[in-house]
Formats: sequence, C-alpha cells, structure tokens
Amino acid sequence: MAENLALQVENLSIAFGGLKAVDNLTFDIKKKEIFGLIGPNGAGKTTVFNCITQFYKPDQGTLLFRGHGDEVTDLTTRPVHDIIRHGLVRTFQNVELIRELSIIDNVLIGGHIDYKTHTLSQALQLPKARAEEKRYRAEAEKILENLGILDRKDMLAGGQPYGILKKVEMARTLMARPKLIILDEPAAGLNDSETLELAKMIRKIRDTFDCAILLVEHDMRLVMDICDRICAINFGKLLTIGTPKEIQQNKAVQTAYLGVD
Ligand SMILES: Nc1ncnc2c1ncn2[C@@H]1O[C@H](COP(=O)(O)OP(=O)(O)OP(=O)(O)O)[C@@H](O)[C@H]1O
Ligand SMILES: [Mg+2]
Repeated sequence: MAENLALQVENLSIAFGGLKAVDNLTFDIKKKEIFGLIGPNGAGKTTVFNCITQFYKPDQGTLLFRGHGDEVTDLTTRPVHDIIRHGLVRTFQNVELIRELSIIDNVLIGGHIDYKTHTLSQALQLPKARAEEKRYRAEAEKILENLGILDRKDMLAGGQPYGILKKVEMARTLMARPKLIILDEPAAGLNDSETLELAKMIRKIRDTFDCAILLVEHDMRLVMDICDRICAINFGKLLTIGTPKEIQQNKAVQTAYLGVD
C-alpha cells in the first residue's frame, strides 16, 4: 500500500441474500484526509463501514489499514474486537455516555483498552497503576482542553447539552489514539450552530490528533464544507470520487440524488 494512505479498500463486495449491498467498491483514504462517503438511502454506506470494522465479513475484497507505528494490517484477517487496537475507531449515531459519571470519567473509560496494568493492581492502587492513571488523566485533560470543554470536566455527563455530549464522546474516542475515525452521521440531531461547531471540531481533530476521518453524513452542507474528497455510491456501486466541487457537478451524482437525467 502506498505510504501516504491510511486505508485502502479494493473490490469490496457483500451480498445479503440476492441483494448486493456493496458491489466491487474501490477507494482509498489518505493519511490525515477528511473523506466523505455519500449516497441515497440504502446505497450501502453503513454496510461499507460495517465491513471496514469487520462487524460484517465481506464476501470479497481487500481492506488494508495503516495503523499505529505505520504498520499495515489486512483488516479482513482480524476479529472485530481487535480492530480498535490497530487504531481504527467508529462512533455511533446515538451518543452513549454514562450520565451518572463526570465528563472526565466518561473520557477515561475510552483509555481502558490501552491499560497495560492489571485491573487488580488498579484496585489495590499499586504505584505503577497510580502512575498510569495519572498519565491517562493528563491525556484526557489535554484532549478536553483541545475540544474546548476542559472547564466542564468534573460536571456530570447527564444534563449537558447535546453538542457537549458529542464532544465528550469524541474525546473518549480520541483516548484510543486513532489513526482513522469513522463518523456515522455525526450531524444527526444537531441544530445549525451545533453543526458548525461540529465542522470546526472535526477539522481540529484532524489537525491536532494526526488522524484521518471517514464521514458518512446526509447533511450535504457539512460534507461539502469539510471533506477533502468524497466518494459517491449508489446501489452499492461506485459513482465517482472527487473534490466537493467535482461531486456537485457530477451528472451521475445529480441523477442518483434527484432521480432525473
Ligand atoms: N444485515 C442486513 N441484512 C439484510 N440486508 C441488509 C443488511 N444491512 C443492510 N442491508 C441492505 O443493504 C442495503 C444497503 O443498506 P445500508 O444500510 O448500508 O445503506 P445506507 O447507505 O447506510 O442507507 P441510509 O442512508 O438509509 O443509512 C439496503 O438495501 C439494506 O436494506
Ligand atoms: Mg446508513
């Protein structure tokens, strides 16, 4: 795989019964790229990233991922629980936080996959575990500061505005030190000003945390605003890949969305 790539998807296919949900799809995502995946309802977007994260095992195709330490992994050979360890994380459409915990504790939960020390030593508060906990806390605070919500760290997650909860969720995601973050319709449920905030946050994450972003989103303003390149699909097949401008001017994309020639 070329050195500048974070993810390479080649000839990806998966069928459910007779339905080809993803049909011989090829695209790649560069390091630090914000990459959009768009298409009408039922086009196969969610299925594509369920294949990338190995939630579904594709029928065909190669999925190469450049994770921690620039190491390239063939994702299709990895079990689903192993994917995050390589530096690939996804967020879910609904924010899932523990309301009864503080914001920083919710973020710290995201670091647990990385904990090297045994949980028992944490319970006993052995020096090594304490040092580790301190390190994670410092990292969590740095992330919260970057996202502009450090002043809320000790507040309970419950009762915070939705836009803040989205940031907390993102902070938790960043604790895994991802190389690629897959965002599943992050603007769903956000109002206009929250969506603008989200756009700023996504850019900042890319710039600050050195990771690529795969964005699946129906809000075309957001997609056109922040994506470096966009892949448009319909009926599981590639329509075209291009810059936001190229996508907007593309006839096949216009036809797929508007249903007219
Ligand atoms: N687990 C499944 N079993 C059977 N069919 C499925 C499954 N998952 C998806 N499909 C079908 O595959 C096609 C693609 O669905 P997918 O959810 O990937 O589309 P999408 O582009 O994410 O759509 P939306 O914009 O509505 O979220 C659809 O026809 C869907 O009904
Ligand atoms: Mg979907």
